[in-house]
Amino acid sequence: MANSKRFYITTPIYYPSADLHIGHTYCTVATDVMARYKRQRGFDVMFLTGVDEHGLKIETAAAKEGLEPKEFLDRIVAGILDMWKLMNISYDRFIRTTDDYHVKAVQKIFRELYERGAIYKGKYVGKYCVPCESFWTETQLENGKCPDCGRDVQDAEEEAYFFKQSEYGERILELYERQQDFLTPKSRINEMVNNFIKPGLEDICVSRTSFKWGIPVDFDAGHVVYVWVDALFNYMTALGYMNDAHNDLEHYWPADVHFVGKEIVRFHSILWPAMLMALELPLPKQVYGHGWLTIDGQKIGKSLGNAVDPYVFAERYSVDALRYFLMREFAFGQDGDFTWERMLTRINSDLANNLGNLVARTLAMQDKYGIASDADKTAPEFRTLMSETCAEFDAQMEKFAFQSALQAVFGALDRTNKYVDETTPWTLAKDESKRGELETVINTLRFAIEIAAYLLTPFMPDTAAQIQAQLNGAERAALFPRIDVKKELEYLTQNG
Ligand code: MSP
Repeated sequence: MANSKRFYITTPIYYPSADLHIGHTYCTVATDVMARYKRQRGFDVMFLTGVDEHGLKIETAAAKEGLEPKEFLDRIVAGILDMWKLMNISYDRFIRTTDDYHVKAVQKIFRELYERGAIYKGKYVGKYCVPCESFWTETQLENGKCPDCGRDVQDAEEEAYFFKQSEYGERILELYERQQDFLTPKSRINEMVNNFIKPGLEDICVSRTSFKWGIPVDFDAGHVVYVWVDALFNYMTALGYMNDAHNDLEHYWPADVHFVGKEIVRFHSILWPAMLMALELPLPKQVYGHGWLTIDGQKIGKSLGNAVDPYVFAERYSVDALRYFLMREFAFGQDGDFTWERMLTRINSDLANNLGNLVARTLAMQDKYGIASDADKTAPEFRTLMSETCAEFDAQMEKFAFQSALQAVFGALDRTNKYVDETTPWTLAKDESKRGELETVINTLRFAIEIAAYLLTPFMPDTAAQIQAQLNGAERAALFPRIDVKKELEYLTQNG
């Protein structure tokens, strides 16, 4: 079934972490919004997410808890799945890099790259901690000492496989030229070109012998595949590349877009296309490098993460409020600084005062004045306004400019609220001869709300459904209660 309206979108696969924070939810929510948007427009969507489970860090973390890596991981992965459930993430497929089909596929890929001469065996020079039997790179050392035990390290060499990344500089530059959208926003291209490609790409070490928790190279015992080679290919193995567990590679590949945080853009826009070129495979259409959520300018990560727990947030203000805030407050391509005040103000002004209030007063007036719904009775001005809003919304969504897309919708809602104040339906209601006008006003309001709810569906699926239900006669309930910002901030500082 060839469907030209296919849309394949991915998030990065996450390092299993017990402390998921709102920084982690950011990219996944954005991907979910895009996936829902495309489905709503009739696309056949594949939305892939998952977890990236190999590497020394996991081996060490599991050992610390006295667990086997897989045991340790199963527990954490359950937590991640729970988080995506909370956040209403509508992924179509979830990959674990420990899935058997992925492991076997990566072994085949590694062998294929080797047989094509894109991978060769060489020597990796670094530092060795004798008591720990651990091999470290210069950058992994802490104050020049072993990061595990703090003892002195010595120069050492390790046999390792290398990927000939150095051969791909020209072709990657050509790719950026030819496929203008390959890497967006545009600023990311300059970063890649100036920091990595112009200075000269180096061959990259793609196997390790110093730890075990990875995919074994099946033709050379003791070597495990470098995590980034293992991880990047998830985007294809999850569709069936080099395995029979799935069957839709032809259908969905190449990906329409990989959403990734800015710190991992280089793996996605240099190493990834280079490996695909080596295998003569089609390249993804686009890599979008989004910004970070920060607190006081610092990336939200493990230590800062606890400050904003998505579960607490969702319970106090609803999941949709969180989804909306993330997409509306920050420009997707740039960093954005989180504060509780920004968040509370945003929820209040947009969701409680603008959207919530409009829906509540419209339905209250409709009920009170006994107005029948009639889609034909809408003011022409609003037909134009809403069709312009839809066009603007779509144009922004196609650019992943979520903030601007939402601004378009809320601009229209603002205009609609003003229309209520201008037409003063409560005055019209007093005069029987103005009944026709009153019917037009109420139906125009309903019309604007209905279109807005449709557009907001990918961002706030529950809220949009609730609005639609209320328009259809369901019991009235406030969508977003007004928050007393001062009191709430006091509460948060005492309990946060
Ligand atoms: N496992 C790799 C990705 C491999 S993809 C083939 C990885 N995992 S991660 O868990 O560290 O990060 C997953 C995603 O979360 C990244 O895109 C990262 O940028 C994003 N974020 C983590 N903290 C973030 C913020 N504070 N703000 C926005 N996104 C952040 O990297």
